[in-house]
Amino acid sequence: MQVFGLVGNPVGHSLSPPMHEAAYTELDLDARYVTFEPAEGDLDRAFEGADALGIAGLNVTIPFKQRALELVEPDSLASRIGAVNTVDFSGDTVTGHNTDAVGAVRALEHHDVALDGTAVVVGAGGAGRAVAFGLADEGMGVRIANRTETKAHALAEEVPDATGHGLDALPEVLADADVLVNCTSVGMAHDDDPEPDETPVPSSALHADLAVLDAVYTPLETRLLRDAAAAGATTVDGAWMLLFQGVEAFELWTGRNAPVDAMNAALRSGL
Ligand code: ATR
Repeated sequence: MQVFGLVGNPVGHSLSPPMHEAAYTELDLDARYVTFEPAEGDLDRAFEGADALGIAGLNVTIPFKQRALELVEPDSLASRIGAVNTVDFSGDTVTGHNTDAVGAVRALEHHDVALDGTAVVVGAGGAGRAVAFGLADEGMGVRIANRTETKAHALAEEVPDATGHGLDALPEVLADADVLVNCTSVGMAHDDDPEPDETPVPSSALHADLAVLDAVYTPLETRLLRDAAAAGATTVDGAWMLLFQGVEAFELWTGRNAPVDAMNAALRSGL
């Protein structure tokens, strides 16, 4: 039996186990996907243990993605992003990858969005970094807009063909853009506000020639996606990005084409 898993803290509400196990069932693979919650300073020991125990692959999430990069042989995209979310223990060396970036790319491609032209990435945190590098690798020009404008400029320095902006520039940078990805937490439900009606993008800046992906998936229909649909834009909810980061990890670990529909059904039934 092959064992895969997720390392993070906390991981209790993760939808990765049902999503990956649906794939194992669909393809009749003898594999399990389990969650691990090591203490903050224990990732080194966790990886050594996983390797020694013959664990085949691990996803990595908050707060371990940056430390994971130091402990594995990262691929070029993960190095540039500065974070690893997928580790492969199967070869002679332990390798690290970042499927968050490809997750956004594949979520858009799945909705027939052409990845040429210009993308606006809102947010310059971990998710914003991954998506900006992912879209730039597809050949898109990337405009990064962030509340803290200096962070947008700093990230734009690193990403090829990118520019940095404050959120006040959104109407201007969106006017002729093709793709918009929200990588901030604005619009996400939380304990204090279970039904937020917030968006980082003024609705008047949205238009019918845009494809809008919201990385937020709780709720699935965010205020941004409602506004985008009203403007006639193509909308892609955050569960697609979550799905395709998992699909990409599954394919990397198993070398098989992922059963996307089965994984999608399992994920959405858990949301
Ligand atoms: P993640 O790993 O999910 O990207 P993060 O690294 O904490 O999380 O980044 C959060 C992002 O959401 C940042 O771009 C942050 O903007 P700042 O760099 O200015 O902090 C953005 N963000 C969070 N709350 C926001 C708000 N209320 N309005 C606008 N942007 C916000």
